[in-house]
Amino acid sequence: MNIDLSSKRILITGASRGIGKAIAKELSQSGAELLLHCRSNLEDAKQLADKLPSQAHIVPCDLANLHDVEGWLPELIHTYGQIDVLINNAGIAIHSPLEKNSQEWVLEWQRTLNVNLTAAALLCKEFISSCDPEKGGRIINISSRAAHRGNLLPYMAYAASKAGLIALTKSLASHLGKRGVKAFSVAPGFVNTDMADAFKSRFGEAHVGSDIALEKLTEPEDISPLICLLCSGLADHATGSTFDLNAGSYMR
Ligand SMILES: NC(=O)c1ccc[n+]([C@@H]2O[C@H](COP(=O)([O-])OP(=O)(O)OC[C@H]3O[C@@H](n4cnc5c(N)ncnc54)[C@H](O)[C@@H]3O)[C@@H](O)[C@H]2O)c1
Repeated sequence: MNIDLSSKRILITGASRGIGKAIAKELSQSGAELLLHCRSNLEDAKQLADKLPSQAHIVPCDLANLHDVEGWLPELIHTYGQIDVLINNAGIAIHSPLEKNSQEWVLEWQRTLNVNLTAAALLCKEFISSCDPEKGGRIINISSRAAHRGNLLPYMAYAASKAGLIALTKSLASHLGKRGVKAFSVAPGFVNTDMADAFKSRFGEAHVGSDIALEKLTEPEDISPLICLLCSGLADHATGSTFDLNAGSYMR
């Protein structure tokens, strides 16, 4: 199936590496104009943008700083024009054992929630207010398998943030469908990126690949085709759904 996204302007958070980068390549090949968000790694984002076949703009923002996030999306719309699809992909997984002192533990909990959930929620909120009721818009939130089955204790905040993202997505889908807004969650298992590398180096390679049904660990390019389909509108009647992409490691 050939998907044509040439009429779409799409914001991808955390686009400079990993899953976000693979999504950017896939959507660009389908012709979308991209707003490539990064935090500070402008050089990586620039190198990516230079190689993409469609128009791409680099739009930095620190999503841990909610003051920076507030009003950022309306500014992007003012500069580049209406955004058709918002992809909340940026995320962090901080190793935060229960043995840590509570003050530090709470700070790490809050940082995780800020980046993975609150910033994403704020972007959804401001995106929805910008949507033309005639045209609507699509939101794709990258959650995680951890939302459903939990995570190791040092990553409880991560699991909680990703579960929150799914609940948020369902709420948006339930109540905004008649205003043309569609919202989807995508829940990967381990994907071969820097984030999974951090787990591999801490817990060993076997921990990451031990429970998958398939031969090989999921690559970022195994996630991006689904995102392309969701952006296209061809799967709008799945609004509110969570798509599990975990190589058969967890079936609900
Ligand atoms: N890799 C996995 O195994 C896996 C599994 C399930 C879900 N996910 C989710 O997929 C998404 C992408 O993860 P990835 O594996 O590509 O990870 P990654 O660490 O390679 O990339 C994360 C991206 O988020 C951005 N980011 C982090 N903190 C930020 C901040 N404060 N401000 C702005 N940007 C920030 C980073 O710059 C980076 O571009 C994340 O939401 C992650 O939780 C990943």
